[in-house]
Amino acid sequence: MSMTSANSDPTASGTPAIRPLVAPRDIRAIARDLGYSPDWNWSWENYKNTIVALTNEYGLRDHLEIGGGRDPVFQPPELVRHGIKVTINDISQKELDLAPPEFAKLCCDIASPSTIDAIGRNRFDFAYCSMVMEHVPDVAQMWRNIHGLLAPGGAALSFFPTLFAPPFVANQLMPEALSRAVLHTLFPDRRDDGGNPKFPAHYNYCRGSEAVIVPLLKEIGFREIVVLPFYGYSYFHKLPGLRQIDDAFTRLARSRDWRTFTSFAFVIARK
Ligand SMILES: C[S@@+](CC[C@H](N)C(=O)[O-])C[C@H]1O[C@@H](n2cnc3c(N)ncnc32)[C@H](O)[C@@H]1O
Repeated sequence: MSMTSANSDPTASGTPAIRPLVAPRDIRAIARDLGYSPDWNWSWENYKNTIVALTNEYGLRDHLEIGGGRDPVFQPPELVRHGIKVTINDISQKELDLAPPEFAKLCCDIASPSTIDAIGRNRFDFAYCSMVMEHVPDVAQMWRNIHGLLAPGGAALSFFPTLFAPPFVANQLMPEALSRAVLHTLFPDRRDDGGNPKFPAHYNYCRGSEAVIVPLLKEIGFREIVVLPFYGYSYFHKLPGLRQIDDAFTRLARSRDWRTFTSFAFVIARK
C-alpha cells in the first residue's frame, strides 16, 4: 500500500519537475472534499464514492466486502477501472451464489472467533460493509476480526442504521414476523422473501455517537477513527401527519446534532 504520493512530471524542457511529497489527506478531509452532509441522502449517494476516495488516497487495492451478498458495491468492469481486487464475504452461501461470478468469494461469519484463523491475518487493505453491522450480534468480535484481517495501514468502513431513530427502534421491538409485514406493506417492491430477504437486526453498537464505538475501536488497536452521523429516512413518507411531525423532529435533531437520534452512520478507521 502506498502511503504517500510523489509527482515528478516532465516539464516542457524535458527536465523532471521536483515537487514536494504530498501527505495523504486524513479521513475527515476526504469526507469534507466529497461534500459531506449529515443528510441521510448523502450517505446513500456517497458510500461508494467514499470507498473509492479512501482507496485512491491510501492505495488500498485488495478489498474485502463484508456481507456483500448478491449485490456487491462494485460491478465487475469497475474492478479493472479502479485497479482493485474485491473478495465478497457473506454468511450465506445462497447470497454469494447470486453474486457475479467474477468475484472471489468467502463464505463465513465475519464475527466468528475462528474467522481470522480461517482467512489469515493481514490479508486485505480495505474491509467495508453496508447494512450488515446491525445484523451481527457480536459487533466487538466483528471489529476484532476486521483488525486482524487488515494489513497495517489498511482501512475499514461500516455503513449502518442507528438507534434511536424511531423506525429502527420499532424494528428492534417488534416481533420479526410483524416487522416483516410492516416493511412489505410500506415498501412492497423493496423487500420480499423470494427476491430480497429481510435479515434479523440486533443493532449491537449501532449508534451515531463517538462515545459508543470509538473506545471499542481504540482498544482493538485502530487509529484515526471517524464517525460521520446522518439524519433522516423515508420510512414515514407514505404516512401523512406522522411524516410532517417526524420531519420537523429530524430537522431539529440534525440542527442540534443530537446523536441519540441519528438514523445512519459511517464509521471509518485505519489500522
Ligand atoms: C441487509 S443485507 C445487505 C447486503 C448488501 N451489503 C447491501 O447493502 O445491499 C445483509 C447481508 O449481510 C449478510 N450477513 C449477515 N450477518 C453476517 C455475518 N455475521 N457475516 C457475514 N455476512 C453477514 C447477510 O447474509 C446479507 O447478505
